[in-house]
Amino acid sequence: MRVTLRAFAPIAALLCLIGTAAYTQPNSKLSLPIPDQGDILERDVVIIGGGSAGTYAAIRLRQLDQSVVVIEKHERLGGHSNTYFDPVTGIPVAYGVMTFHNKSVVTDYFAHFNIPLVNEIFPTNQSENVDFTTGEPIDIKPISIPSDDPEVQTAVENYMAQLAKYPFLEDEYYHLPDPIPEDLLLPFGAFATKYRIDAIVPLIAGYTLGFGDPLAQTTLYMLKTFSRQIILGIQRGTLTYTSHNNNELYQAAEKELGSDVLYQSTVIGAQRGLNETDDSRYILAQTPSGQKFIRAKKILVTIPPTRENLVPFDLDKTEEAIFTQFSGTYYWTSVIRNIYHTGSAPAIQNRAFGTPYNLPILPGVYGMLNTRVPGLNWVLYGSSTFMSNEEVKRNLVDSLLRVRHANVTITEPEIVGFASHSPYEVVVPVEAIKAGFYRNLHALQGHRGTYYTGAALTAHESHLIWGFTEKLLFDHFV
Ligand SMILES: *[C@@H]1O[C@H](CO)[C@@H](O)[C@H](O)[C@H]1NC(C)=O
Ligand SMILES: *[C@@H]1O[C@H](CO)[C@@H](O)[C@H](O)[C@H]1NC(C)=O
Ligand SMILES: *[C@@H]1O[C@H](CO)[C@@H](O)[C@H](O)[C@H]1NC(C)=O
Ligand SMILES: *[C@@H]1O[C@H](CO)[C@@H](O)[C@H](O)[C@H]1NC(C)=O
Repeated sequence: MRVTLRAFAPIAALLCLIGTAAYTQPNSKLSLPIPDQGDILERDVVIIGGGSAGTYAAIRLRQLDQSVVVIEKHERLGGHSNTYFDPVTGIPVAYGVMTFHNKSVVTDYFAHFNIPLVNEIFPTNQSENVDFTTGEPIDIKPISIPSDDPEVQTAVENYMAQLAKYPFLEDEYYHLPDPIPEDLLLPFGAFATKYRIDAIVPLIAGYTLGFGDPLAQTTLYMLKTFSRQIILGIQRGTLTYTSHNNNELYQAAEKELGSDVLYQSTVIGAQRGLNETDDSRYILAQTPSGQKFIRAKKILVTIPPTRENLVPFDLDKTEEAIFTQFSGTYYWTSVIRNIYHTGSAPAIQNRAFGTPYNLPILPGVYGMLNTRVPGLNWVLYGSSTFMSNEEVKRNLVDSLLRVRHANVTITEPEIVGFASHSPYEVVVPVEAIKAGFYRNLHALQGHRGTYYTGAALTAHESHLIWGFTEKLLFDHFV
């Protein structure tokens, strides 16, 4: 079967480039050689990306008797749930997602795999503070919640009172009122001053790492992320793996999904909506064993839906108008060998002299945390603007070498685990939010057989991502 396509630019470009499979270009129309039935992978749903949202969707759709295939660019599932397996001790060291909130969507998912969770309190006030640009220790009062400090108590009350005005922020979807309250569109720094929550701004910044400059970020995104649920979690604890192996969920999912995941594979072309009545969609994936055609009834995009990521999907004008508005912040995570920290604090935070709230200067290291393996530290890095991985690695090592002091021995810092979480917080400008961006984004669900889920549609929070996906599946897939 051959299908003539009007516009299949990315595939055509690719075919030109590598000069394989023949194609003709009559009257500037492109012809894509879609192979015989037997060479096409047929599925109900093709899922783009095997991170938190994609893996959840794959497991749930199979439970709902739909056939799936996941296209995942790495050799593993799990996205931001990074784990370093220490070859010396055999201990898995978490350097990504490891805590969850006690919500039924979370506990049901873990129960499906028989993975036990335990409630733990992670103190917020146990770190030393160092200015990573100079290596100087900096004396800052630690913030804990609940707190004995009346300033902190008032700031928490003020913050909670603001959150209470916007209960819709707890919803998985962005169901925003029209018009959108002006306060939600303020830069967060202005909002913090206006409502006197200054005393907890550094704490909030610590829970929104990877958001670029938190004071410049739009309040809507800050409030959606630093939610009532997070504050409760700080006070009462959050769920984490009993095993402390944050790869456990994804190991189990990999086993269950088996050959329904194409690893180290990327989408290089798509053909969506050949005509109004044909509901089959084609995806062309580059896999380690060559190119593969997939024909599916629906496409579920779970990767950050930025213009750049969606190039192979041959966007139409409606889609372009939405997705070109997204822009992302930049965030990296790593495990470094040869840092020996003998102080009593489990973490060293980067705080700066002379910045508002002593927030760290970006681009820069956010901090380093001890792990379960002595000599291995979890180090996070952020930037408001694009940086290459190589540049980040260089800056990161230089910064670490500056923080050597009495309690920190650093010999030849070696990066043994490294992952980019960029683009991280995917946002749109205030003008777009005002103009109904999120309403238009929801209206796009199902357009050309394509659906969207993931942190960009809700927040970087497992129960919101899984809850969003769950709703989407029941609204449109079953
Ligand atoms: C989660 O909350 C439920 C009550 O809603 C409780 O019974 C359960 O023990 C909690 N789970 C953990 C691990 O704390
Ligand atoms: C940290 O917070 C806990 C509980 O809120 C408190 O008991 C402890 O004294 C605090 N530690 C420091 C170093 O402030
Ligand atoms: C739509 O496409 C399908 C599959 O290629 C084809 O069988 C059908 O005839 C087309 N319908 C119209 C109205 O062009
Ligand atoms: C080193 O650690 C000790 C406690 O173990 C602490 O009292 C001291 O302040 C730390 N020194 C620095 C420079 O952080």
